[in-house]
Amino acid sequence: MSQPITSTLDAEQQKIAGEALRATVIDLIDLSLIAKQAHWNVIGRNFRSVHLALDELVTAARDFTDAAAERATAVGVSPDGRAATVAKETGALGFPDGWQQDTAVIDGIVGNLTAVIKGLRERIEATEKADPVTQDLLIGFAARLEQLHWMWQAQVATD
Ligand SMILES: [Fe+2]
Repeated sequence: MSQPITSTLDAEQQKIAGEALRATVIDLIDLSLIAKQAHWNVIGRNFRSVHLALDELVTAARDFTDAAAERATAVGVSPDGRAATVAKETGALGFPDGWQQDTAVIDGIVGNLTAVIKGLRERIEATEKADPVTQDLLIGFAARLEQLHWMWQAQVATD
């Protein structure tokens, strides 16, 4: 593959940061698609709040996808957000087809957030020495997704 964009990272740092960003772009694209699928298919008593909260998650996932992909470009790594790549490599759990009850949607979204956050935390660790700038970006994503993870759980939690 040609290297038209140079990096200020050395080859090893670039490899670690590039792999972390590549996997993050893939997971976040899938998360945004899962949240939209749920947004369209949710039914039940809490339709409205769940429907609206899902678009809040879509916005976060799309914004973070762009930030991760453009961080990859900034370190000279070509991002890959193609549907076929996402389908093959995603670390998200997925979402069933058809109408989904609001309570099942909440469980599904919490599960997907848990999986995506787990991947982010592994990459935060992996990038600590290699590229703290990429690590900082991933920490920001994890902070927001963990906030949303709490908010999704709180919709059905009982003490
Ligand atoms: Fe909508």
